[in-house]
Amino acid sequence: MRLRAPGRFSGRSGRRGGVARAFPLVALLAVVGLVLAGCGEASPYSQITPRTEKASDIQWLYELIFWLAALVFVGVQAFIIYTVLRWRRRNEDRPEQIHGNRRLELAWTIIPAVVLLAIFIPTAQVIFDHAAAEEEADFVVDVYAKQWWWEFHYPDIPGVNEKPVITANEVRIPQGADVVFNLRSNNVYHAFYVPQLSGKNDVVPGHNNKMQFVADTPGEYFGECTEYCGIAHAWMRFKVIVEPEENFNAWVAAYRQPPPVADARPETADVVEAPASFGTCLACHNISGTNAVAAQDGYQANVLSQGAAPNLTLLGCRDHIGAGVLENNRDNLIQWLKNTKEVKSGTYMPNYYQPAEQGGLGAINDQQVEELADYLLSLKPAGGCPPEQPVGGTADVSLSDAP
Ligand code: HEC
Repeated sequence: MRLRAPGRFSGRSGRRGGVARAFPLVALLAVVGLVLAGCGEASPYSQITPRTEKASDIQWLYELIFWLAALVFVGVQAFIIYTVLRWRRRNEDRPEQIHGNRRLELAWTIIPAVVLLAIFIPTAQVIFDHAAAEEEADFVVDVYAKQWWWEFHYPDIPGVNEKPVITANEVRIPQGADVVFNLRSNNVYHAFYVPQLSGKNDVVPGHNNKMQFVADTPGEYFGECTEYCGIAHAWMRFKVIVEPEENFNAWVAAYRQPPPVADARPETADVVEAPASFGTCLACHNISGTNAVAAQDGYQANVLSQGAAPNLTLLGCRDHIGAGVLENNRDNLIQWLKNTKEVKSGTYMPNYYQPAEQGGLGAINDQQVEELADYLLSLKPAGGCPPEQPVGGTADVSLSDAP
């Protein structure tokens, strides 16, 4: 069967029609662009509001790739639209056959190669610069990814051997410090990601990845696990709090002191007693500066899985529990202790409240649950909790759904 030869595209009206047809697409792209620009400012998980030089480098690469891709997209679309309109079948002409045209083949080999080089060279440059910076950083934080929470150790702060500072799901760093996070896992792959501070990095069992940055803007920066790691992957959120150095030092000092309680017995003035029901919890949890210190004698570097459970020191100052699953308040602590497994599916904390016949351990009753919630909330420094820092380093970021 012979194909009907397409005719030559002619006439102004057709050309106007083409432009008119392209208009909705352009309008749609403009609206999507505006919406995306709006999203960027609103979320503390935004990838396009960098707050460190490191994140800005990545943002710069992202923009470079975006605009090069946009150029390629517009170019290709323009050719497609032109070809479709120019060689519509109802016209008489057949297009000239260009198979084997050397100039064209060279052009469409060289142009993509140039585009790829324009992406590759700065990308490689940034990767090497960042790798070098990891080696030079001098404020070390060891990160241990757990199922399903994060533990942070400060191996180099003064006095660490006598009084280690180990936190969970919230890590404080001094403003302007050249920080390197050592990322480790003792179970499965996780990924450590604080979009406003740096790129994403895998946390791999048996391998120490690093992440470096210098955060100059005080603020709270939100991070999460970004490698699917199992049932509670979505509830592995954490916060990096960047604060002036004196605040950081004050917090470290407070972390090592017992929290004040009205009825502390004089003979144990430096050791605050936890309620007896906390004895069950000591199998896994620690609280510095109180008599509720179960394991751990001095700091041991590079010991994986130091804490079987989050260190609860100064828990009263934390916004959230369960790596973001609940806000930290009395009702929610009670809920956590009564319905641990329901609140966070897959958590490795046993349910101690539920009667044994319902599958729980039945070790604590209603009254003890309340007593424990009050006790946990009382774990605050004598001088009150550290001052809050603005989310995302700016006061105007909306926080609606962030932990
Ligand atoms: C067998 C170990 C174990 C025991 C015993 C245990 N927990 Fe936990 N607990 C955990 C683990 C693991 C988590 C982290 C859960 C998560 O986020 O997935 C946790 C989390 C918590 C949290 C939230 C902490 C945070 O950083 O978000 C609180 C509060 C808590 N436990 C209180 C208690 C109390 C009170 C007891 C005693 C009644 C207790 N736990 C007994 C393992 C334990």
